[in-house]
Amino acid sequence: MSKYKAYDVVIIGAGAAGLMCAIEAGNRGRSTLVLDHANKPGKKILMSGGGRCNFTNLHTKPENYLSHNRHFCRSALSRYTPQDFIALVQKHQIAYHEKTLGQLFCNDKAKDIVNMLLTECEAAKAKVQLETSTANIEQGEAGFLLNTSHGDYRCESLVIASGGLSIPTLGASPFGYKIAKQFGIDVWPTRAGLVPFTLHEKDKTRYAPLSGVAVDCAVTCEQQSFREAMLFTHRGLSGPAMLQISSYWQPGGTLSIDLVPQVDLLSELMTAKQNNPKLHLKNKLCEYLPNRVVDVFISDNLPLQHYSHSALNDVANLVTTWQIKPNNTEGYRTAEVTLGGVDCDAISSKTFESRDVPGLYFIGEVLDVAGWLGGYNFQWAWASGFAAGQFV
Ligand code: FDA
Repeated sequence: MSKYKAYDVVIIGAGAAGLMCAIEAGNRGRSTLVLDHANKPGKKILMSGGGRCNFTNLHTKPENYLSHNRHFCRSALSRYTPQDFIALVQKHQIAYHEKTLGQLFCNDKAKDIVNMLLTECEAAKAKVQLETSTANIEQGEAGFLLNTSHGDYRCESLVIASGGLSIPTLGASPFGYKIAKQFGIDVWPTRAGLVPFTLHEKDKTRYAPLSGVAVDCAVTCEQQSFREAMLFTHRGLSGPAMLQISSYWQPGGTLSIDLVPQVDLLSELMTAKQNNPKLHLKNKLCEYLPNRVVDVFISDNLPLQHYSHSALNDVANLVTTWQIKPNNTEGYRTAEVTLGGVDCDAISSKTFESRDVPGLYFIGEVLDVAGWLGGYNFQWAWASGFAAGQFV
């Protein structure tokens, strides 16, 4: 008798994508086992959205994702939409709300989403086995053979749902990339995305007094712009606008930041000069920016009548086209997502099966697909997990 316990489907990774895939595979009557080396399933779900899980985004479009293969995500996203996930959330009577920009959060706690997925796994008879490390995977005659810390398994379909590298303390590992390489599948170089910036020492000292200050801004880099809040920190720059643009930034690149995106600042200054020439420059600027920001960015403070058009233009430019070259990002320690990963060209966008290794599937963040901030990454995990679940 074989020492290998047989399943139709083994999924490695009990995160968002792996659990969704297990539910779908189980519901199709496939005997399904999910293995995870962590002591809890869905650790990132639990940590997400400040503990309330931003589980999807109502405005999800393929354009909200970065990948070397821009069209890869299109098919899965169209087959499993935010409305589909919302229907599941509603079926489990989990209360939720839209916070901003189409971002849906649980009213209560992220654990509700994990419990929902586990309840669905149980109903689909998909087994989740934790604290299990996979030491070795080989291709057998009719599928794959796995040696793990808790027994040996055989399966027809093997799904890699082990995620990216962000936040190693939450169980992240390069496992998926290693398996891809073992089977001759290319992996794009990875880097941290949706991550705060660190600044060079000189800039860090200059902007240190602003630590804790948040402003609405428009940030641009590599022809991509985001209009959201930014936050000065003791290490550098954070907040939604900075996390978003970090996915487009390349080391050595410069950010262009408009700290007053809500108005045409030059024309406001010119009008104020005409109507109220004795008003001091900083007093006018403080109508649009926190005092501390004005103090750090503007050294001059004469009545407006003393400034020529060109001088006011220079002042406006200081805060509307602020050019800053970050030193780096905080890296995987705090990144919400990993850019790069398993090459989508090697994977079917319909089934998520490897084009060259029948029975081997990759889903979720381990693939070279990374979403914007705001629920897009979970939507990708649900959609890719759902799609693969129909075929494994
Ligand atoms: P995920 O990382 O969720 O799961 C991978 C699983 O594989 C883990 O359970 C891990 O333990 C397991 N694993 C790894 N290596 C293994 C190995 N060698 N053996 C066995 N198991 C292994 N997105 C969003 O849309 N809205 C949000 O609010 C947030 N918030 C957020 C906060 C924080 C702090 C982070 C770090 C990330 C987010 N994200 C997010 C991103 C989102 O969490 C992420 O994109 C998805 O969880 C990816 O789902 P996956 O299932 O692909 O990987």
